[in-house]
Amino acid sequence: MKDAARRIIDAIGEGGRVAVMTGAGSSAESGVRTFRDRGGLWEDYSLEEVATSEAFATNPSRVHEFYNTRRAHLATVQPNDGHRALVRLESLFGDRFALITQHVDDLHERAGSRRVFHMHGELYKARCVECSDVVEWMGDISLDDGCRSCSGSMRPHIVWFGEVPFFMEEEIPDVCDGCAVFFSIGTSGTVYPAAGLASMVSLGGGLCVEINLETTPGSGIFELQIEGKAGERLPALLDELEALLKPEEAV
Ligand code: OAD
Repeated sequence: MKDAARRIIDAIGEGGRVAVMTGAGSSAESGVRTFRDRGGLWEDYSLEEVATSEAFATNPSRVHEFYNTRRAHLATVQPNDGHRALVRLESLFGDRFALITQHVDDLHERAGSRRVFHMHGELYKARCVECSDVVEWMGDISLDDGCRSCSGSMRPHIVWFGEVPFFMEEEIPDVCDGCAVFFSIGTSGTVYPAAGLASMVSLGGGLCVEINLETTPGSGIFELQIEGKAGERLPALLDELEALLKPEEAV
């Protein structure tokens, strides 16, 4: 891990920016199900039936039930050591750090991460189908719930397949453009545009680092691969990075 930490520090140099992309695998150790692993959500549900605007138009109750179940479960889980390690990474680099996440859970924020872009939406928010007003929403969403502004019906504030992810017009391209190091953590890298961000960084000369239990279809683009659980490998990497950057504080 020491060699990996040195390569990362060298790539960041003086003033380089760091971007992190997380996927479902980084909340797996908190007890949140991933999508495509064995035991993943898409084994039990058809994504066409619960995660598309067509599904919501055809059977909104079914779609609400799927996300209501996810939202209720989220209240029972806690951030893990991987989430906490990313807070340490942010405190090392401050405003040169950004966390792009495919998670719809709030575990990064609960751990203490501050600059987080939820490109696939957030479970604890709902959106009006008519006027697009977005509100905090902790409980179930039902067909009877109406928008506070226009009384329109409410939908989960989730990006469904076929919809454009959030923050892709400006913020996420700005973060990735010219960034020195890009981490891809716990994602299968199969859903675009998220899966294309590493290539963008790599083309710009940045170092791409993958942390995953296994290789992924896009692993070839990552110059540095760290195999294992995010909740174990990230804290170990942070120990090394902190020892290199803040040697006076290392024990
Ligand atoms: P996937 O379920 O596709 O992939 C999870 C990845 O995490 C796999 O590559 C696993 O090997 C890895 N993994 C599992 N446990 C891990 C651990 N403890 N440490 C490190 N890696 C681990 O999930 P995503 O890539 O996030 O979209 O899926 C992308 C998108 O597809 C999701 O945001 C969701 C889904 O359909 C929408 O709902 C719009």
